[in-house]
Amino acid sequence: MDTLEEIKNIGFLASDEPKNQFYTDVIKGLKAPQKHLSSKYFYNEQGDILFQKIMNCKDYYLTRAEMDIFQNSSAQLADGICANASAFDLIELGAGDATKTFHLLKYLTEQKANFRYLPIDISGYILDVLESNLFASLPNLSVCTIQGDYFEALQKACELSSNRKVLLFLGSNIGNMSLKESLDFCRKLSQNLIQGDKIIIGFDLKKNPATILKAYNDSEGFTSQFNVNLLIRINQELEGNFDIANFEHYQTYDPETGACKSYLVSLCDQEVTIGSETISFTQNESIFMEVSQKYALDEIEKMAFESGFKPVLNCFDTHHYFVDAIWEVA
Ligand SMILES: C[S@@+](CC[C@H](N)C(=O)[O-])C[C@H]1O[C@@H](n2cnc3c(N)ncnc32)[C@H](O)[C@@H]1O
Repeated sequence: MDTLEEIKNIGFLASDEPKNQFYTDVIKGLKAPQKHLSSKYFYNEQGDILFQKIMNCKDYYLTRAEMDIFQNSSAQLADGICANASAFDLIELGAGDATKTFHLLKYLTEQKANFRYLPIDISGYILDVLESNLFASLPNLSVCTIQGDYFEALQKACELSSNRKVLLFLGSNIGNMSLKESLDFCRKLSQNLIQGDKIIIGFDLKKNPATILKAYNDSEGFTSQFNVNLLIRINQELEGNFDIANFEHYQTYDPETGACKSYLVSLCDQEVTIGSETISFTQNESIFMEVSQKYALDEIEKMAFESGFKPVLNCFDTHHYFVDAIWEVA
């Protein structure tokens, strides 16, 4: 096994996902009775830049709420994951630019915790941003980036050492799955870990519906641009010819189920060509783009037990808008 020092600041590509997987998924999604696209394809370079703008905009409370937790409760989070002093791998799924994680990394480094940070993301661009930011701010931190889809990259991370694992899954990334998908996802996580390993998961809590809807209907229009950017990406990478002026972003929130959903609505009857395929749209037909699920605390606790974890600790922001829950593999 490599020593921590030897594998400091290196990066991996989890796999060479076939280039045509993007094409296959897009065509399958747009030929379904309810047209849909996978939100994992939002994150090309332009998507990453737009998402950073969303995180900084005043209506998107999620980042500020979770930042509040990481700035003010890093010691509590660190206590929750460092129950014993053994060396551990801190693996972050969908790390993005890790601006919130930075506070925990800094705290752990100051406490001389024996750990290594392995951020995983599907976007190589954002991993480069993350790496250069961390190199500038925490030069002594041992970092190993892994580019790839969640589970293939997690497997790669688990192969690198036999240290105990602590996973981070922040930013309410889990909310970008249906309730069934998120339960299956957590079950699969616990199956990839061993008893005593831990995870910190960020959940956006149910709150005033108007506050939630405003976060995704931001007055600067970044969420709309973020959604439309996927059509632009299809044009650029898959020989598509979407006329983006013919699509409009539409957001819904259902306080009963907690599902906040993004759509792009076709403004006219139209045909779009993608490679050799032609997709027909009727006026007002929608493409389902992404769900951002909101949770009640009892739903979160139930998910922990049903997926093979036991809840350890909940850390809240000042407004109780958001929770970072620490779970341990049961
Ligand atoms: C909503 S952003 C959150 C970023 C960060 N966790 C935060 O809290 O600021 C989602 C991140 O997950 C990554 N991502 C989305 N789907 C992914 C997948 N299937 N596998 C790996 N990374 C993924 C995206 O590239 C993006 O950086």
